[in-house]
Amino acid sequence: MADVPAAAADPDHDPRDFRNALGLFATGVTIVTTKTGTGEPIGLTCNSFSSVSLSPPLVLWSLSLRSPNLPNFLQATHFAVNVLAHDQIPLSQRFAKPLPRKFEGVAHNFGVHGMPLLDGAAAQFECRTEARHYSGDHVIFIGQVLRYSYADLAPLGYFRGAYAAIQPVTPA
Ligand SMILES: Cc1cc2nc3c(=O)[nH]c(=O)nc-3n(C[C@H](O)[C@H](O)[C@H](O)COP(=O)(O)O)c2cc1C
Repeated sequence: MADVPAAAADPDHDPRDFRNALGLFATGVTIVTTKTGTGEPIGLTCNSFSSVSLSPPLVLWSLSLRSPNLPNFLQATHFAVNVLAHDQIPLSQRFAKPLPRKFEGVAHNFGVHGMPLLDGAAAQFECRTEARHYSGDHVIFIGQVLRYSYADLAPLGYFRGAYAAIQPVTPA
């Protein structure tokens, strides 16, 4: 077990190594979407998604300040979180690149306020942006969930920088 100092001011602080430690926290994979001021659907692969509150229903995710989509998400009043199913790795890879027209050829429909929803997702949360917090090199978006849906599909997992299968385990 490595004991590593992590203060940003510390000359030994290594963001890559910090990321390795964070990678031990297994997550699902989502694609967070919205639309631009001209109505074009946009989105990115995101595993910083988390639940915040049950009542009211709130969720959060964080976006890198380096994302070219930052201005779009800052101006948007709504966003949608698509929780990917186990067979959606190609979608995750596609939306993890800074490509134009990521939705071209991708089956989708539109939900509350025209938020893009991806076909075949395990769960979807359609949100109104409730708050934004600048924190370090990311902006945290908190959304009030206006509508959600889910299907009986195994979700896609992400762990130590790689995709993973998520299976229930029965305690002995
Ligand atoms: C599994 C996975 C999870 C990711 N999670 C996030 C995240 O939570 N926040 C973020 O800003 N980028 C995240 N990324 C990186 C973005 O998907 C990537 O930078 C993408 O190019 C952003 O889209 P854009 O360049 O069109 O804005 C993740 C990538 C992968 C593969």
